[in-house]
Amino acid sequence: MSRVENTAENRAESSPTADTARHLMFDDLEKLGRILVQTGDMAHSFIQSADDMDVTCRDFSAFDPSRALPRQGRGTLDALRAVQDDILPLLAASIGPRYLGFVTGGTTPAALVGDWLASAIDQNATGPEGSVNAAVEEQVINWLCEIANLPANRFDGVLTTGATVSNLLGLVAGRQWCGEKVGVDIDADGAGALPDLQLFAASPHASMIKDMSIAGIGRNNFTKIVTLPGSEQTDIDDLKAKLDASDARGKIVIASAGTVNATDFDDLNAIADLCATYGAWLHVDAAFGMFAALDDRRAHLLAGLERADSITSDGHKWLNVPYDCGIFLTRHIGVLEKCCRAFAPYLETRADGNMYINRGVENSRRFRALPLWVSMQAYGRDGFAGIVRANCDQAADLAAWVKSHDKLELMRDPKLNVTMFTGVGSDDDNRALLDRINASGKLFLTPTIYGGRFGFRAAFSNWRTRDHDLVIIKQAIDFVL
Ligand SMILES: Cc1ncc(COP(=O)(O)O)c(C=O)c1O
Repeated sequence: MSRVENTAENRAESSPTADTARHLMFDDLEKLGRILVQTGDMAHSFIQSADDMDVTCRDFSAFDPSRALPRQGRGTLDALRAVQDDILPLLAASIGPRYLGFVTGGTTPAALVGDWLASAIDQNATGPEGSVNAAVEEQVINWLCEIANLPANRFDGVLTTGATVSNLLGLVAGRQWCGEKVGVDIDADGAGALPDLQLFAASPHASMIKDMSIAGIGRNNFTKIVTLPGSEQTDIDDLKAKLDASDARGKIVIASAGTVNATDFDDLNAIADLCATYGAWLHVDAAFGMFAALDDRRAHLLAGLERADSITSDGHKWLNVPYDCGIFLTRHIGVLEKCCRAFAPYLETRADGNMYINRGVENSRRFRALPLWVSMQAYGRDGFAGIVRANCDQAADLAAWVKSHDKLELMRDPKLNVTMFTGVGSDDDNRALLDRINASGKLFLTPTIYGGRFGFRAAFSNWRTRDHDLVIIKQAIDFVL
């Protein structure tokens, strides 16, 4: 395609409205101070109101997704008014203290500031070329290892878009490692070069199943390990029997440190022993469970984590940094880099430091280390330990209340931050009850099936949840029972 010269003649032919529109951006640049103050005020009032607003919005009919793109804009202040009128009233207060769905972290003030700055300075965090961003990511990874009691000289990693991608990296790196042990280079020759790769998992998270599909392994193509009675924990005897019976040349064991329902932790030392015996790669999904390390009453649940070959975790869950921020740690960074490297002369650098472009799925990357760095700097290890301890206490408090309630039933004692419970009626009754609870607008819970029964999950992962929120939560549930 030939390049259009930026001559006076060509400029005269270009659309005058397009030129005017570009001038809007320069106008906005001049007004940026005022725009940022107004944005800050708007964000501040949303954040403050998240305590009292309905926790989720159930009717978005006022928003018309088919509305045509405006031909001419009117600048940022006008767009901000549209956000205020058209979007803010229809949002979930998921940053608020009673959004207990999924495993949803809030945003600490420092993380918010870090995130805003990440957008303002908009580094493409590919590597060390011309910017300190790679060194900041390296420091954050070291701090995360410190939090999880992992030796930073053995573990290295990368920040990802979330635990789903971290799990994918675990599969891809594990598969490559398995191949290399038997002289097969999957990176070069594809998954078909090791057709007898075998995966073993007892309670893989839904994201892991999706990753098996994305990685070309196949979502049904894993060996299901039995769970211990009434739990989501790996039955070690069954894992041993199935590893023993396997003659696959490549084996990956997927373990859990904090399952999404029962918050169960596998016996990682026992699994690591088996992996050593049978030459398997051990991947541990610790999306939120890794932060049990910050609670001295629960840190023992992670014994053996340091023996994992790869670990998945998340910043946007319990560390309360904004989306998106996943964490991937591994003892085999070279293997990961082999699978993820991107070669092109224009990407080469002589700068010293980690090339994060070679450690994950994305080439262009948000500077997602910055929100973590600012929040870690602002609150330190103790700040995060405070969140984890408080949320675990809240889950236990709710569980005790449920146990004492004659119309509710606790499905499992929470090991960590998720209380799973249900009503005493049928599954259909309980589906209707969950709808009523969520329609109250006072709290938000997500459904689950556990032990073949329909139930609710209350996942406490927000720094803002306080004792008086538990009072509101209990009252709201009582009111609709
Ligand atoms: C144990 C576990 N693994 C993986 C994930 C997927 O995380 P993400 O949504 O950050 O990709 C979750 C999400 O809840 C999870 O709980």
